[in-house]
Order: sequence, then C-alpha cells, then structure tokens
Amino acid sequence: AGLAGPQLFRPAAATGELLTSQVPLPAPFRVPLPVPAVLAPVARDADADRYEIVQRQATVEILPGLRTPIWGYQGTFPGPTIESRSGRTAVVRHRNELPVPTVVHLHGGRTPPESDGYATDLVLPADAAYPTHSHSGHASMHDPAAVITRGEREYVYPLRQRASTLWYHDHRMDFTGPAVYRGLAGFHLVRDDEEDALPLPHGERELPLLITDRAFAADGSLRYPSIDPSLTTVPGVEEAYLEGVLGDVILVNGAPWPVAEVSATRHRLRVLNGSNARRYDLALDPPPPDGRSFTQIGSDQGLLDVPRGHEHVPIAPAERYDLVVDFGAYPVGTEVTLVNRLGTGSTARVMRFRVARRGAEDSHVPDRLGELEPLDRAQAAVTREFSFRGGLVGDRHGWAIDGRPYSPTRIDARPRLGDVEIWRFVADLHHPIHLHLVHFHVLSRGGREPGPHDAGRKDTVDLRPGEAVEVIARFDGYRGRYMFHCHNSEHEDMGMMANFETV
Ligand code: C2O
Ligand code: CU
Repeated sequence: AGLAGPQLFRPAAATGELLTSQVPLPAPFRVPLPVPAVLAPVARDADADRYEIVQRQATVEILPGLRTPIWGYQGTFPGPTIESRSGRTAVVRHRNELPVPTVVHLHGGRTPPESDGYATDLVLPADAAYPTHSHSGHASMHDPAAVITRGEREYVYPLRQRASTLWYHDHRMDFTGPAVYRGLAGFHLVRDDEEDALPLPHGERELPLLITDRAFAADGSLRYPSIDPSLTTVPGVEEAYLEGVLGDVILVNGAPWPVAEVSATRHRLRVLNGSNARRYDLALDPPPPDGRSFTQIGSDQGLLDVPRGHEHVPIAPAERYDLVVDFGAYPVGTEVTLVNRLGTGSTARVMRFRVARRGAEDSHVPDRLGELEPLDRAQAAVTREFSFRGGLVGDRHGWAIDGRPYSPTRIDARPRLGDVEIWRFVADLHHPIHLHLVHFHVLSRGGREPGPHDAGRKDTVDLRPGEAVEVIARFDGYRGRYMFHCHNSEHEDMGMMANFETV
C-alpha cells in the first residue's frame, strides 16, 4: 500500500543535482496557467463556513500526453482553494480515501492545537482493511497524546488573523515529503476589510502561484526516492538525498512552465514556494524599465507596512511573497518570463506572461499598506537559541535541532501564553524554519539588520549557511503543543523538527 513502510530511512534515496525526468521535457510556455478552483462551502451559518474535502488518488495530465497518478485534495493538484474572511471560522471535514494515513496542517493558520495537524494526529484510511495500528515501524511514532481517527476528521480554523496567503498540506510524521510531492497541497486565502479597502489588483488580476518542482518517470509517474525503487542503486545518492528532493520540471499550479495572457495592467501575484526543497530567486526577464521586477506588498502573513521594490525575490520552501507586477510598463505583445536565477537549464525558468492586450487600469499600490504591531527587543521575556544542523543520528546521517532528532514526546520550549520571545536560529546550511501558531518579525540576520526580503509578518524564515537569524514573536492564541521545524520536507522527515508548548 504505497508508502506505508519507512522507506525514507533506508540508505536508498537519490537526487543528484536533481532528480532527472526519464521523459523528454515538454517545450515551455505552451500550457495555459491553471488557477485552482475555489471550493464552495457545503453550509454556512452565522459565523462559520463548512467545507468537505476528499483526499483521493487520481490520474491527471501534467506533462502533455502523459498520465500521472497523484494524491490530491478532491483528486486535484493543487487542491481547491479555500477563501475565508478573517474572523469567520472555517470548518473543513477531510475524508481520507488514500492508502496511507494523512494529517492536514493549515500553514500560517492561527489554529487551536487539536486542529493544527500535529504530525501524529493521524487520519487513518477510510478503507477498513487498513490496520488500526500504523506499521510505520518508526519507534518515535509512539505518542501517547496522539488523537488518531479513522476515515475522517474535522479541522476547525477560527482564523482570528489578518488577510494572508495561507496554504494547507499534509504533515504526517516522517512522510510529509512524499505526500506533498504526490500532490497534497492547496491554497487557503484569508481576506479582510483592511485589505479589501486598498485599491490593489483584484479579480482575474490577482493570481495565486504555487511553484513546485517534480521529476517524472517514463510512464508519467512522479519520481521520488522512496517511490521509485530504480533509484536505490544510484551510487553516492544518499548524500544527495540529504539536500532534499529536487526535480527538473517546474510546475506552477500543477502545470509545467505555463503561460498566462495578461492585460497591460498591474497584477497581484501571490507566490507560494510549495517545493519540497528547492529555493528560487525570482525575477522578470526582461525587467521593466525601472529594473524593479516586483513591488512587494505582503509577506507570509499579509500586508507589509509600506511597499518595497525588488529587482529579484528569493523564496525558500513554504515562504509566500505577495507581489505586484505592472505589465503596463511593457508594450503589448511582450513576452515576460518569470525566471529563477538559482536554476540552471530547465529549472532556470518558471513561467511566462504574455502581455496580450491593453486594459483599463483600476488599481494602484498605495504608499501605506497595513499597520504592523511593532515588537522590540525590550519586550522579550526570554531569548532562546536553536541550532539546525546535520549529523549522525544513530548510524546514519540525519537532520536535527540542537543535535536531537524529533520526538513527539519532548518539548523544547515552553513560552508563556502572551509573552514576547526572541528565538535565535543558527544553521550549517540553508534551512527554511517554520513556527506553527505564531507569526514573527525578523530582528537580525547575520548580526546585522534584517535583509531586504525579511520585511513583514513571517512564519517561515530561510537560514543561510553559517548565518544566525533572530526572530521575535508574541506567543498568543492558544495553549498547547505545536511543532517548529525545517520546511525542507526531507529534512523535516529526517528529524529536523521539535515542539514548543504555550503554557
Ligand atoms: Cu507548512 Cu509544519 O508546516
Ligand atoms: Cu533543513
């Protein structure tokens, strides 16, 4: 039954620089950009919207002419987009018709612990033939606090938070990488009056862009080290796998290097890096006349205080950048490529915009966007430090926080509810660090001011090799146990995760 065994922990996996597709890659910029469908609620009452999602296997056409089996929310990749209003509860009932247990996490959601998608709170397959006791074989799976359900689970999201680009994805302990790679990810957008009052591009001029990389086998299926037994013999591959799984096909909203026809007006791009391990450095080619590809209006957790112009935007797994591009700066007929300055060959380009026609401009980017609650050092009750490093875990290489691989039963920090804390992270390599429940501000990077891309309310911050980053957060919302971890999914699955508990 699929990935029911602990394949990830065999010294067997491979990427090389990337995991190479065994099919000819399609010509780029031919497939129209899909936009995931917005899910209609099954019911609405005074303060809640109710949704139902079935997690199931499906076969879809990702590369033209090839059939690819996926795991999808509603059988699609990406899953349907949920759109919520700030302060209105979304209740999402997930039914698991997949052959493996699943866990759903709303990334960036301010969610009570019982609905946060804790890694051991499994939803077992609805199929009664699936054994009640998971046979993952991984001893640390033992978690007396886990709440395991069969077939379905209702996740309650109060969404007492500001407008932001959230996303939902699988979070099962030790198996997040393969599950998300197979397709378990979708957008959850939160809107509010503050943002709606701004004259930003909207309607079809607002595009959510989920960027991922994948590799394909000759039969069209996805290649992932633990899925593909042919990879177990590639020499020297264990080390490569440690970097995380990279593919050579770039998908946007599930389509390879797609093309979008746009009017010569401003557009809002809600960019989410949903890749397991790949970082991108995005820019437009050609750049607009002023050289600034993007005007950033928001970060992981919603609007910035003021807009910031960027020539390029680096984005690590799970980060979001809310960007306005003014296609009015280009003559009609221009082809504008969204490029990845960290890529080579097929991974150096992401998608294309074709400036197809004039359009009446109805938006602009105001000088003031949102208010940010200032948090400063003097408010911090505690400073904690965590190191994110690789090393030997038992007899094989793994990833750990403070040298300890993840255990659901160990709590590494107990912030008091409502306290402001500074967390200092140090790393050996790039690690995108994500905290559940809270948002934070970057206080310093490498002992200096935060970088130009660190602004705003964040929930994920990319550490760079040898560089310390300090973030400051108020730990409020709910009492309970939450995870923090590296969002390189393979690092996470190999143990680079820990718990904090708000008390
Ligand atoms: Cu996007 Cu703990 O995850
Ligand atoms: Cu990492």
